[in-house]
Amino acid sequence: MQFEHEGWQRVADKYDSVWSPLTRQFIPYLLNDAQVAAGMSVLDLACGPGYVSAAAKRLGAVPTGMDFSENMISIAKAMFPEISFMQGDAQNLPFDDSSFDRVLINFGLLHMSHLEQPCAEACRVLKPGGNFGFTVWAGPERNPGARIVNDAIEAHAHLDVGLPEGPPKYLYGEREECRQVLERAGFDGSSMTYETRSVEWQLPDAGYLFEAERKAGVRTAGLLARQSPERLEAIRVALQEGIKQFARGNDFLLPMAAHVVVVGR
Ligand SMILES: C[S@@+](CC[C@H](N)C(=O)[O-])C[C@H]1O[C@@H](n2cnc3c(N)ncnc32)[C@H](O)[C@@H]1O
Repeated sequence: MQFEHEGWQRVADKYDSVWSPLTRQFIPYLLNDAQVAAGMSVLDLACGPGYVSAAAKRLGAVPTGMDFSENMISIAKAMFPEISFMQGDAQNLPFDDSSFDRVLINFGLLHMSHLEQPCAEACRVLKPGGNFGFTVWAGPERNPGARIVNDAIEAHAHLDVGLPEGPPKYLYGEREECRQVLERAGFDGSSMTYETRSVEWQLPDAGYLFEAERKAGVRTAGLLARQSPERLEAIRVALQEGIKQFARGNDFLLPMAAHVVVVGR
């Protein structure tokens, strides 16, 4: 967890400008599928700069945002001073059982090292009848953006560089496997909805994807930081070549897909 925590502390200020324009596009799907409505108490875990909380509040819900990065929490508080944000670990929640109507995690689960612990914690703090909703990136076979990065790394990176182990990159990537993880965490698997949604990430130039991964990411950035200059250059060129097919005028519109999963307890 230390590797992830240090990484998110480091990139917190860049995260908002680089990744939020992409991750925010999935929030309407998440709130809609989780059936967030006015008056509900909503826990937004791994909240980052706080956009899920802000969108829930616009619906009339009462959000609480939590992130383990103090820097992320400072940014969220500055952007949305009317919302309650707190620092804390999603794998060990400081809330009583049955406290919330909804628990949401937008692109946070795959950064947590204890695989099923955040789901079990989400289940514990949900009220009976409540919903847990989350998004995770779809794997390379269904996600052109992920495929470009994946292919470049597989072709050119030296992988055995001593990175601390994280969860499998595309855990929850298959519907039935996902249902089983959620059932083991205490949820009613039969209630699960599992939708794959695609959006376009607008990149201002051909080098943007590489720089985003290198300077504003955490796990991939850690891998890139441990490559030789030659390997790094090969990866940079592969990413640049990979996005060329998505050029639209001066920009690039890169399709990115994620699974939006909702389950009840
Ligand atoms: C990819 S960002 C997602 C941020 C935000 N939810 C969004 O939609 O843009 C992942 C976030 O998870 C947070 N995070 C990672 N592990 C965590 C943990 N164990 N507990 C709480 N937050 C965590 C990071 O600090 C980071 O803000």
